[in-house]
Amino acid sequence: MKGKILVTGGTGFIGSHTTVELQNAGYEVVIIDNLSNSNREVLDGIEHITGIRPVFVEGDCANIDTLRQLFKENPGINGIIDFAASKAVGESVHKPILYYRNNLNILLNLLDLMPEFGVKGFVFSSSCTVYGEPDVNPITEDAPIKKATSPYGETKQVSEDIIHDVIVSGSPIKAIILRYFNPIGAHPSGEIGELPNGVPQNLVPYLTQTAIGIRKELSIFGDDYPTPDGSCIRDFINIVDLAKAHVKALERMLDDKSDSNLEYFNIGTGEGLSVLQLLHAFESATGVKVPHRIVGRREGDIVKIWADPTKANTVLGWKAEVSIADTMRSAWNWQKKLRERGIM
Ligand code: WQD
Repeated sequence: MKGKILVTGGTGFIGSHTTVELQNAGYEVVIIDNLSNSNREVLDGIEHITGIRPVFVEGDCANIDTLRQLFKENPGINGIIDFAASKAVGESVHKPILYYRNNLNILLNLLDLMPEFGVKGFVFSSSCTVYGEPDVNPITEDAPIKKATSPYGETKQVSEDIIHDVIVSGSPIKAIILRYFNPIGAHPSGEIGELPNGVPQNLVPYLTQTAIGIRKELSIFGDDYPTPDGSCIRDFINIVDLAKAHVKALERMLDDKSDSNLEYFNIGTGEGLSVLQLLHAFESATGVKVPHRIVGRREGDIVKIWADPTKANTVLGWKAEVSIADTMRSAWNWQKKLRERGIM
């Protein structure tokens, strides 16, 4: 094995896909997840894809005693990829204490324990929300960080500051912060994918649930923005491409490819796509029409943001590869599998 990696939140959407790519790259994976926004069956999906069932610890990373016990029972962990967090932008506005306590405690616990157990590399799941509404697109890593528009976004900004301060304080760890844009799609096998609890907040799961008839119609939150077709623009990145970026980041640290102890990378395609363009891409890629209606703007939405991924392409050696059409087909395939399995 190339090494043993702890994936926090590993039964979640991004965590499960990253676990598959870590196993494909020859790493042993230990997952800790409290299953607050995912389920144990994800482990079956991972095993069906790779033939390897990750070690699974059901537990709360916000509890330092739980984490210390995990490190004692799973010696030799070389790296950590930290996905575990509360992540609903809208919910965070109504429950700020829950978001600050949970997201920051998890991070502080991990940073505290890493030196104690000789863990070397730390990959942190951040978000393009740290940029707020960009002045210029495509956006590079040195763009100004603007005041977050939600407690969720603020926890990502504060987390980045905490990691920076811990590194400059002389901690022996290395860290890479990945700022994602909009992760979408599902593993092409249909074994794992995005499965939000309750009514989806994000565009693509709501779109595929509408396409299959679970939802009556997709609301398009505004077509009166200053964009070519009036709808918001995003950088939609395939989930498997995103997962592979994490393996690249980990290898960069574990193989000592960088003399910096802290690096930041935007993980996006570099292409801006509007909400309406994505909807039409789904319909043409799958042949399935999606009932939809233009409604009012959603509060807090950024008008347009897409990545300049040059640094990730050249320094990390990573590039988005899967087309939007194939990504839409993967999302639709996943939704149909959920129906076949009676899950939804
Ligand atoms: C995308 C666009 C909506 C739903 C958030 C977080 C980000 C990351 C991804 C966690 C917007 C429009 C959406 C719908 C719509 N989350 N939309 N109808 O807000 O760009 O990013 O999720 O890490 O950090 O900020 O993603 O998918 O919610 O919205 O018209 O039913 O789709 O208005 O323009 P968002 P989203």
